[in-house]
Amino acid sequence: MCAIPFFQSRIAMSLKQGIRIADLAEHKGQSVTLQGWITFRRDSKGIVFAGLRDGSGFAQVVVAEDRVSPEAYQTAQSLQLENAVRLHGTVVHNERMNEMELEVTDLELLHAGAEYPITRKAHGVEFLMDHRHLWLRQPKQWAMMRVRNRLVYAIHRFFQERGFMQLDPPLFTANAVEGTTTLFETDFYGEPAYLSQSGQLYGEALAMAHGLIYTFGPTFRAEKSKTRRHLSEFWMIEPEMAFYDLDDNMDLIEEFIVFIVRDMLEGCAKELELLERDTTMLEKVSKGFPRLSYDEAVAIIRGEQAVDGRKSLDVLAEDLKAVEEEIAANEKDIAEREAAIAAGGMKKGAVNFNRNKIDQLIARNKELAERASNIPQWMESARNFQHGEDFGGSDETVLTRLFDKPVMVYRWPAAIKAFYMKRDPEFPDYVKGVDLLAPEGYGEIVGGAEREDDLDLLLARIKAHDLPQEAFEWYLDLRRYGTVPHAGFGLGLERLVTWLSGTHHIREAIPFPRAYGRLKP
Ligand code: 4AD
Ligand code: MG
Repeated sequence: MCAIPFFQSRIAMSLKQGIRIADLAEHKGQSVTLQGWITFRRDSKGIVFAGLRDGSGFAQVVVAEDRVSPEAYQTAQSLQLENAVRLHGTVVHNERMNEMELEVTDLELLHAGAEYPITRKAHGVEFLMDHRHLWLRQPKQWAMMRVRNRLVYAIHRFFQERGFMQLDPPLFTANAVEGTTTLFETDFYGEPAYLSQSGQLYGEALAMAHGLIYTFGPTFRAEKSKTRRHLSEFWMIEPEMAFYDLDDNMDLIEEFIVFIVRDMLEGCAKELELLERDTTMLEKVSKGFPRLSYDEAVAIIRGEQAVDGRKSLDVLAEDLKAVEEEIAANEKDIAEREAAIAAGGMKKGAVNFNRNKIDQLIARNKELAERASNIPQWMESARNFQHGEDFGGSDETVLTRLFDKPVMVYRWPAAIKAFYMKRDPEFPDYVKGVDLLAPEGYGEIVGGAEREDDLDLLLARIKAHDLPQEAFEWYLDLRRYGTVPHAGFGLGLERLVTWLSGTHHIREAIPFPRAYGRLKP
């Protein structure tokens, strides 16, 4: 499991709470105590097999009738999903499963409680979201939170080891950062205040005081639509560096992403396995991310410029053909398995195996059918992409499809980017912004820029964006007193977790998501 700092498990032991499942292997042959919750129970003649989870991992426990008291055996036979238990027993290695398990010698039921609402049957996602406080116990959700935790740890390590200071910006603010349409307004002692969309402007002030800083905190955006990439409350990591230009910024983004992806692959192999994450694309994340100007990216999306001899529209057409072929092959496979079951004479185990396989194939074909209906729409919008527009999710998918690493797009039209981005002196209609796009359809995970450091140009931008100058006076001071080139970026933690865990929707990347239509639990 994800290597947790060693002191975590030692604390549990010193509290005499027994040992944790993550440490079972160290206690092979010893008599120990485990505390946790029941994940399954299977009865055999004279023996009860159960699953136990304790937050640190999952293990099988075996209660043999001839090794425990009659009362304890009766309790074992009555165990239900999510009952809380304390177990005493011997740690043994199960050769067949190649896992540590507990041969129980005694067992206490700590809490039986009511029938658990989340069962093995397929629940709708709305039901699961309504039960988020319980859904978090399920193995995939558990694994996802561990990936998140590992990333947070790696992010701090990356910056701290490079001399960056972590400092916290305020969350109540008087000014917008990323455009006024997504502001959440609140009442601050009778004065309007906004929940912070980004810590950046404060980060710039802090960088002028400390040189290299990063903020890491919650940010808020009123995104009034339900998408798989947007939350209303999300966590952002925002480094800000004095004396950095756009190229330095891009170098840092690259080094940072390579570091945290490598660290996660190394530390969370078991979690990624639980999440059924195909890590092929993640293994390829190494230095040398393609860097495309916005203009080049547009030409590639539209199919006018080839990448390694391949053009976007041709690649999409090939993808569509491959998807259609896989759907047909799966349908044939399903029909054959159904016919074999219907013919009778198959052993029960084999029937179950085939039924399971059929369910998997049906689920896979549902995914593929969605993709098959999406691709023609992507092709259509890629072909018609208008220079000067911002990229939509499908444009990002089309572009990144042609590369096997995350892609950086820089030098954006000024009209579609934030007021604080530095005008490119060589291309006056463009700004020195950069977006990092993740592969496999995950799209933008980082947005950053070199900042406008000239007072007059910044004032003009504030006016052009119709922003109240008065609210930005303190920010303008940064250009009045010792202004220097500086740059920074913002990484959305949940977008990162979603991509790395290979999850479809961002709502599973944060313990308790807040999004349009979702305030509880
Ligand atoms: O591109 P954005 O809007 O950039 C900024 O906020 C800059 N002030 C950052 C900086 O330069 N310091 O947002 C940065 C990142 C996006 O790339 C995305 O990963 C994430 O924040 N993000 C969201 N994540 C989840 N839900 C939303 N509604 C998000 N909006 C942005
Ligand atoms: Mg952005």
